[in-house]
Amino acid sequence: MSIIVTDLHYKYNQGLPTEVSALNGVSLNVEPGEIISVVGHMGSGKSTLAQHLNGLIFAQSGTVVVDGCKVTDKAANLNAIRRKVGFVFQYPEHQIFAETVEKEISFGPSNWGLSGASLSKRVREAISLIGLNEDILNKNPFTLSGGLKRRVAIASVIASAPDYIVMDEPNAGLDSSGTSELIDLMKSRAQDGVGVIHITHDLELALTISTKILVLNNGISVSWGTPQETVMSLCSDSIDKLPLPDILNLSNMLKKSGKIDDVTLDAYRLASMISEKC
Ligand SMILES: Nc1ncnc2c1ncn2[C@@H]1O[C@H](COP(=O)(O)OP(=O)(O)OP(=O)(O)O)[C@@H](O)[C@H]1O
Ligand SMILES: [Mg+2]
Repeated sequence: MSIIVTDLHYKYNQGLPTEVSALNGVSLNVEPGEIISVVGHMGSGKSTLAQHLNGLIFAQSGTVVVDGCKVTDKAANLNAIRRKVGFVFQYPEHQIFAETVEKEISFGPSNWGLSGASLSKRVREAISLIGLNEDILNKNPFTLSGGLKRRVAIASVIASAPDYIVMDEPNAGLDSSGTSELIDLMKSRAQDGVGVIHITHDLELALTISTKILVLNNGISVSWGTPQETVMSLCSDSIDKLPLPDILNLSNMLKKSGKIDDVTLDAYRLASMISEKC
């Protein structure tokens, strides 16, 4: 059981003067229980890749396979894939459509056959997992703050209990407590065996929570590996538009000048490495 993306290429407006090459030979694997982060600068191809994973767009070359089923535009295929792979849009406004939060969150699970008390229970479990209480269920989701809209969008995907969940920039619009709740949520989904695909600009967050990280630069995969492997790769070959986190950058400079032996994201570890050398 896994999502396997192999040598994916995608161009918008193919063959037109406005053609944009968004993905150029990108590969990754997602296993149940993993948090895979896809990191890159603005326009690096993250959302384009994300949209391939549940068949919002289709590979022009290369393949996307979900639990053995190739993602194509055949309807039977797509239903099975969309049931397995939940998708939280980068902009909640692109996802939300119902007139109440309860209807919004019920939509997915009722489509997959849940009704009555089981549906109501599923909706309440989903809002509780995302840190909301039942007062919100009667509200119109369009009138909520950006952060609350995002939580509702996430709850509505979680309510369908997908095997994989793709979250495109899920911490945008969340404050620091919202972000830490989101991290807990991603970890708890992963502990329950869900494969989490986390799309983000935030390299530091990705390095902290991920099983593996794919780094994109202008649609090209520049690194794919564990957080430690990603650190090594980005420290030796930095990407202009994707700055390293401050502590990592400082430790990298100190290592390059021979003042410490290792790079780290941890301020305390950096301080102790410096003091050992003084
Ligand atoms: N619908 C579209 N039509 C034409 N070009 C597009 C379209 N969507 C994206 N692109 C282009 O494809 C490239 C990749 O865009 P994509 O949205 O995948 O990047 P991203 O990494 O998600 O960016 P961001 O961090 O801003 O969300 C960019 O050059 C973008 O301008
Ligand atoms: Mg995007």
